[in-house]
Amino acid sequence: MRLAHPSPWHAHAVQRLAEGPARALLPPPRMEWTPHPGHGPGSEILGPGTPGRRVVELGCGPGHNIAHLAAHQCVKGTGVDLVGLQIRRARSHYGHIDKLTFAAGHALHYLQATQERFDVVYSVFGAVGIVSPGLLLPAIHERLLPHGLLAFSVPHPRRSGWPPAIHDGPAHDFVLLPDHNRLPIARWEFDVDRWAQQLHRAGLTLTGALEFAHPTESGSPTTLLITARRF
Ligand SMILES: C[S@@+](CC[C@H](N)C(=O)[O-])C[C@H]1O[C@@H](n2cnc3c(N)ncnc32)[C@H](O)[C@@H]1O
Repeated sequence: MRLAHPSPWHAHAVQRLAEGPARALLPPPRMEWTPHPGHGPGSEILGPGTPGRRVVELGCGPGHNIAHLAAHQCVKGTGVDLVGLQIRRARSHYGHIDKLTFAAGHALHYLQATQERFDVVYSVFGAVGIVSPGLLLPAIHERLLPHGLLAFSVPHPRRSGWPPAIHDGPAHDFVLLPDHNRLPIARWEFDVDRWAQQLHRAGLTLTGALEFAHPTESGSPTTLLITARRF
């Protein structure tokens, strides 16, 4: 009898690590906001790259994007991920990069515990949308510097052709594992107006919304990319 289920994200990390040992990597030449490499904008979404800007990624996985920002934009970067195995993998890939640190933990707990203030908080299919926005957005607001930027990409709420949520609660989604099994998770599936309301409640102002479809297949958009500021 199984008494406990591991987190879907832990199961995902275990399968990824089983594909081979993590080794040191060169940071990628580009930041990605969608699941389709080379498609859509890059780090310009985060504004002009001023060296030394403090940037945190919530749900960094193996750390490719934050490694790009630390190495190519000279930011002081922190990658946070719920799963210790992902952080171990990120450190094996990019631990050699200057001014880049990784922390294991829940995004909300990290923001509540840290004393740091950030110029930029971002998430790429990471903690934003997976953690209750009613809790996470106020915590982000608290740690952003005045005029600080929040940017996040999420699976598009209309990617399956269904209408987006008509309430503030989560919907059923799943994590697709490398072995093609699917494990259920909750996801907040908002359209742009509902994200604007949630951001406003947390003291943040929506400044942009972009949507992207699959680069070659026709169909519903796959990615929603939102930017907001603390004014
Ligand atoms: C789909 S992956 C995206 C990883 C990375 N951002 C990328 O683009 O490669 C989602 C990541 O979010 C992490 N995650 C899920 N819930 C989280 C939470 N509450 N706090 C921090 N990270 C979380 C998972 O462990 C996983 O590594």
